[in-house]
Amino acid sequence: LGLKKEVNVLCLGLDNSGKTTIINQLKPSNAQTQDIVPTIGFSIEKFKTSSLSFTVFDMSGQGRYRNLWEHYYKEGQAIIFVIDSGDKLRMVVAKEELDTLLNHPDVKHRRIPILFFANKMDVRDSLSSVKVSQLLCLENIKDKPWHICATNALKGEGLQEGVDWLQDQIK
Ligand code: GTP
Ligand code: MG
Repeated sequence: LGLKKEVNVLCLGLDNSGKTTIINQLKPSNAQTQDIVPTIGFSIEKFKTSSLSFTVFDMSGQGRYRNLWEHYYKEGQAIIFVIDSGDKLRMVVAKEELDTLLNHPDVKHRRIPILFFANKMDVRDSLSSVKVSQLLCLENIKDKPWHICATNALKGEGLQEGVDWLQDQIK
């Protein structure tokens, strides 16, 4: 009772991918906000699952703030990486940021679980999670557990499957 394991999660991904919308959906309904605006810097949020109490660093994905991400890598015990499946033009930018993350000394040799959300699956002509996974070359991640789910953060679809996976990796 009230003794859930505390876990720090970093929520990363390009601006407009839906990070804040996803985190908002995972919070208890009385803590959810209606109007979500682009994150400035980062914001610290909390949500709980059956066995874990998550503290989320919801980072801004805007280019000018992405250099903040690395300062939190050491503290992160899990990563949620969000991709806008409808944003084909910037898939290569998302891959660049992912590769930079994976090669960072504070991440590279740690068996830290990474949950990918291929978000905005409701958008017309959006890419499937399989296609996103191929474009990001996720199969090359050999030293960390990872999982990808297609999500619609507006409706909360697909999020639970991902969070259940994350919980299983940590508990
Ligand atoms: P930054 O804070 O700037 O890094 O962006 P973010 O990744 O936190 O994105 P945010 O949650 O602010 O969402 C950006 C826009 O995408 C908002 O207008 C959301 O309503 C919209 N959005 C988020 N998830 C979905 C989704 O699954 N489908 C659709 N159609 N729109 C979404
Ligand atoms: Mg945000």
